[in-house]
Amino acid sequence: MSAPQGASPTISLDDEVVIVTGGARGLGAAIAVLAADAGATVFIGDVLDATPVVERIRQGGGHATYVSHDVSDPAQWDGLVRQVIESAGQIDGLVNNAGVNHRVDLMNTSPSDWRRVMDINLGGAFYGLRAVGAAMDPDRGGSIVNMSSALGLVGSPAAAYSSAKWALRGLTGSACGTLAPKNIRVNSVHPGLIRTPMATGGTSAYVQANVALTPLGRMGEATDVANVVVFLLSSLSCYVSGAEIAVDGGYAAFGGQMEAARIVRDLETGSTGP
Ligand SMILES: NC(=O)c1ccc[n+]([C@@H]2O[C@H](COP(=O)([O-])OP(=O)(O)OC[C@H]3O[C@@H](n4cnc5c(N)ncnc54)[C@H](O)[C@@H]3O)[C@@H](O)[C@H]2O)c1
Repeated sequence: MSAPQGASPTISLDDEVVIVTGGARGLGAAIAVLAADAGATVFIGDVLDATPVVERIRQGGGHATYVSHDVSDPAQWDGLVRQVIESAGQIDGLVNNAGVNHRVDLMNTSPSDWRRVMDINLGGAFYGLRAVGAAMDPDRGGSIVNMSSALGLVGSPAAAYSSAKWALRGLTGSACGTLAPKNIRVNSVHPGLIRTPMATGGTSAYVQANVALTPLGRMGEATDVANVVVFLLSSLSCYVSGAEIAVDGGYAAFGGQMEAARIVRDLETGSTGP
């Protein structure tokens, strides 16, 4: 995969085949739609039915297929890869997007919840990297995007969720070196609070608190993340590998200082401090 030459290149995934996990809704659905709009043939995996997303893509003239797929089951990865190769002949991109939320602190996280969150949010990407990395054609190259989180860049009370998202950074770094000889790039994306069923499932106080710690002062939209992922899938990012890209309105880089500024204000005006 080499970069297009000339002025003002546009993002194109023409003739590319891309797998998006967890694509029935939220970020995965937005990524699948945008990748198809850019010309990719998209295979959408999810434990939920993604037929509505497939229909939306087909109505727009794009190509998409839903595959019932649980990312935490290695055997289902083998089946997915076989199906994609049989029907499309190749795999050029993989977005390890599927994930579950778990806003529970260390002392209240049960061992079984720990294993479940790790197996989906971290194991899913591990199984995907192995199965798809083996199937990609070095002559075509490939791009794999691991969906981490801003909570993989800063500390968080959510013990299992945050640990899995931090570990995805390590997995990304490891995979980017291991798969480079096959001409496969691997990057991680770190969304902040994005308007999807996962984020809006939190209380409105949770949402407000996180917006208050976001320098750009708003929630992100699913397309804000999808734009970056499609860039990473495309040849425009052909020299980007092993990168950790925050799409969080500045939350991880500066969010703590937003809170510090509030505390300084409170102390200086004599209102309640920390
Ligand atoms: N929305 C946010 O604010 C936010 C922030 C940071 C990171 N993320 C990450 O982005 C990704 C997508 O999140 P979202 O907000 O769209 O969440 P969402 O809950 O709206 O969608 C997640 C999708 O993953 C699917 N899924 C869950 N377990 C699965 C499994 N075992 N196998 C296959 N599919 C499975 C779900 O069915 C669902 O369709 C997740 O990895 C999440 O951790 C989201």
